[in-house]
Amino acid sequence: MTTQRRFYLTTPIYYVNATPHLGHAYTTLIADTICRYRRLAGDSVYLLTGTDEHGDKIAQAAAKAGVPPQEYTDRIAAEFRKTWDRLGVRYDDFIRTTEPRHKAVVQEILQRLWDSGEIYFGKYGGQYCYGCERFYTEKEIVDGKCPDHQTPLVHIEEENYFFKMSKYQDWLIKEIESRSDMIRPERYRNEILGFLREPLTDLSISRPRTRLEWGIPLPFDDRYVTYVWFDALINYVSALGWPDGSLFREFWSHAQHLIGKDILKPHAVYWPCMLRAAGIEPYRRLNVHGYWGLGGGKMSKSIGNVVEALALADKYGHDAFRYFLLREMVFGLDANFSEEALVARLNADLANDLGNLVSRATTMIQNFGGGAVPTFGAETPLEAELRASLEKARGEVHEAMQEFAFHRALTAVWEFIGVVNRYVDGTAPWTLARAPAQAERLRTVLYALAESLRCLSILLAAFLPPTAERIRALLGLGGEPFSLADLEWGRLAPGTQVAKATALFPRVEQGGGRQKIPGHRGSKKGAREMISMDDFSKVDLRVAQVVAAERVEKSKRLLKLTVQVGDETRTLVAGIAEHYASEELVGRKVVIVANLEPATLMGIESQGMILAASDGSSLALLALDRDLPPGAKGS
Ligand code: MSP
Repeated sequence: MTTQRRFYLTTPIYYVNATPHLGHAYTTLIADTICRYRRLAGDSVYLLTGTDEHGDKIAQAAAKAGVPPQEYTDRIAAEFRKTWDRLGVRYDDFIRTTEPRHKAVVQEILQRLWDSGEIYFGKYGGQYCYGCERFYTEKEIVDGKCPDHQTPLVHIEEENYFFKMSKYQDWLIKEIESRSDMIRPERYRNEILGFLREPLTDLSISRPRTRLEWGIPLPFDDRYVTYVWFDALINYVSALGWPDGSLFREFWSHAQHLIGKDILKPHAVYWPCMLRAAGIEPYRRLNVHGYWGLGGGKMSKSIGNVVEALALADKYGHDAFRYFLLREMVFGLDANFSEEALVARLNADLANDLGNLVSRATTMIQNFGGGAVPTFGAETPLEAELRASLEKARGEVHEAMQEFAFHRALTAVWEFIGVVNRYVDGTAPWTLARAPAQAERLRTVLYALAESLRCLSILLAAFLPPTAERIRALLGLGGEPFSLADLEWGRLAPGTQVAKATALFPRVEQGGGRQKIPGHRGSKKGAREMISMDDFSKVDLRVAQVVAAERVEKSKRLLKLTVQVGDETRTLVAGIAEHYASEELVGRKVVIVANLEPATLMGIESQGMILAASDGSSLALLALDRDLPPGAKGS
């Protein structure tokens, strides 16, 4: 007997009247994230996505494009698939409502409901919106217009088939009330319970073919096609091979749907009633997220629409885009998308916190540990703190993921990253490396760093899959299978070869382009991003004494400086040759950033940055106004 838990997750099936955009990408990426996490936890997972291809909207879009509907839907459906593949989404099935396997199930369900008296033929007159393909009740109409489209409604009267939805009202209220997690977050559950305080009407489930051809014919009256929502919702069971497919038997009782708040009502009201009438058990959970808006910052004005927003995935990298979406939106609430905010997160969280940690740690293992994971000696409270922080992050991620609270999960992972960064500063391996008596301590610290990276790669795997894989590859674990169970401290084998990281996430200058010289000062005007005290405390400022200086060959701007910092000698490359002659610098005390990632300029590795001020034309080195020895720490 297997004890493996099962998890069936669906995204909405997207209308093919438009190409994929930010909103579609968000839902699909969070579906991918949660499924990856559940797979890592050892669960048996099935992720379904697809396209909704019938109805008036699609017929009109095809007509506008001047192609037959099937050809049109083939084209856009392929576009959706391509987008998910490009963004690295791992889905198990992609269903299209024009596929025979889906149409057959829709017709079978309709026939059963007709046979059992759940559907009747009736006359209906009312205010109709062609955009929404539905009638509106007096209460819903705003100024005589459709509340969604703001277009005038048209009074139409026609004979149609109706599903007796109203008879399920009491059952549905009881179901939602007795299952507190059937619809979540809570606010959407309350919204639906509020809606159900008013009498529920029956649902018109057909459209006369005289008005709409592009749909699934009713099996008991081919003068009509099926209403698009009645057709679409059924995809969640047709894809599993209802009624007796093995996937259906295996997964349906674990079904969770993921939707945006715009389609709450069909999922929280129509769908459970349809399932009940067809004798299918209701889904387990409906997870509802908020809406992305565009606008806010100045750069975001350049994003004209949600389609262009998706293009930023290519501009800044898929992991950075994915990170931003997961981190920025509180699940269930609305959020704002802007290029500025994306770049700010990319620089602060990815380039700075995560990227720097990975490059610092791997560089130190190279420089001070010979490039291999060392054996470790006795632990101190500092390592105990690292382990405790890992445990905390692991627990918090797990809890957050039960609620689709991606932003909380990532906050927990970044707290761990912060602890590891502080561990580097606190243990100062570069100091240990200079004291032979500290060799064992140094090995322990380097081991702890490598092990922290390994654990991070597991914690990050569901959120940033390629980044996690790159970290694993640096540790010589590339391609090896792993699971959440491997999040146990001490599993990394000593002796494993570690490669030196190139920047995982190069910083991006606000304004678009990548920074040209890593670690080199820009002369940006205007307001800068605020940093926390914690961020500032990561900067290791030191007094350094220039012992030698020379011009860098073939460069007008660069000087190569040899400086003394404490008892260490370092090489710096500084862009100051137009302002200082090399001779006048020798003997001077300057202030440098000592823990800046090394950068190679004109073939010379610069191991720090000298501080200077500039008004754009003249430049001055920062100096001490009282004498202090080289190595003194700035604050
Ligand atoms: N075809 C129906 C769904 C049928 S499901 C049985 C549909 N399609 S849609 O193409 O309009 O997609 C709607 C879904 O796209 C939303 O529920 C949400 O998942 C996603 N989003 C579209 N725009 C969005 C935002 N601006 N923000 C967040 N998600 C959005 O409705």
